[in-house]
Amino acid sequence: MLISKKIKEIKEEFYLKLSDIKNRDQLDALSNKFLSRRGLIASLFSMMGDIDPLDRPKAGNELNSLKELISKEISLSKDKFASAVVDNLNIDYSLPGKSKNVGSVHPLTKTILLIENIFMKIGFSLAYGPEIDTDFYNFEALNIPKHHPARDMQDTFYLNDGNVLRTHTSNSQIHFMMKNNPPIRIIAPGRVYRNEDISVRSYCLFHQIEGLYVDTNVSFADLKSLLNYFARELFGNDVKTRFRPSYFPFTEPSAEMDVYWGLDSESDKRITKGTGWLEILGCGMVDPEVFNNVNYDSSKYSGYAFGVGIERIAMLLYGVEDIREFYKGDTRFLGQFK
Ligand code: DAH
Repeated sequence: MLISKKIKEIKEEFYLKLSDIKNRDQLDALSNKFLSRRGLIASLFSMMGDIDPLDRPKAGNELNSLKELISKEISLSKDKFASAVVDNLNIDYSLPGKSKNVGSVHPLTKTILLIENIFMKIGFSLAYGPEIDTDFYNFEALNIPKHHPARDMQDTFYLNDGNVLRTHTSNSQIHFMMKNNPPIRIIAPGRVYRNEDISVRSYCLFHQIEGLYVDTNVSFADLKSLLNYFARELFGNDVKTRFRPSYFPFTEPSAEMDVYWGLDSESDKRITKGTGWLEILGCGMVDPEVFNNVNYDSSKYSGYAFGVGIERIAMLLYGVEDIREFYKGDTRFLGQFK
């Protein structure tokens, strides 16, 4: 029978070629030559039609066994090459493993999450304002008219189209109030920009979290108790705070809150300028003029607002002495906050 003879020949040819194989590429080529859809075995299968129907089952069996045999030999050789590769690598198993550098959450992000959490626990929700904004939202609606000296408090980046890079997150207050009605209880974190000389203490961009609470009969005592809660959550239960009168165009009265940092070390003296106290936020009762600007009835509603500098808090929490560290993207610095 012709086909039996062919099968025998192919088998012999296969073993002859296999004995010559020296690497994985050659093995793959061999496998292709015999087993692929257009390979030798397939061509034998296509000859089946010409065989006497009585002989077909036997021939089929022989062909199937040949295919199985060749497949098995090829896969055995594959294993052999695989382990040979490992042997040839000459691995020193006593070497330390390669460490993978897993990224870490940026310390500013960590601080923002921490603060968000403190306020969200007591029912504040998150809101956001844009970083590029109009003069109206960043200044005018917040009771800072053009040519008002209060504009000098914040050195502004003006864009060619007349818009500004927001100088504070307070613009979020206006955006939110224009779209929602009281009662309001939000915090709005984000980036802000100021055209200031860059130093250990200040950078051209930084982060703030704005807070806004609007309802009927909101008092300054409410504001104080909220911010004392915030300070306790952040720095521990025996933190000491004080409120100093201050001025912001969008709040009346306005205050700044200090926490007592102590005067134990040289660094304490330096960062508190010798007083032991550190300012951590600005706050106040929302100025009725701001309510008028967003069409709230200022005879009905009252509220408080506050703005916290994130970098300041992060520097205190993590003992970072130079604000510029946050923006260098140096993994040796950032990796410490895992
Ligand atoms: N926007 C102020 C700043 O950037 C911070 C601030 C002060 C925000 C008092 C407030 C506030 O909401 O009530 O300096």
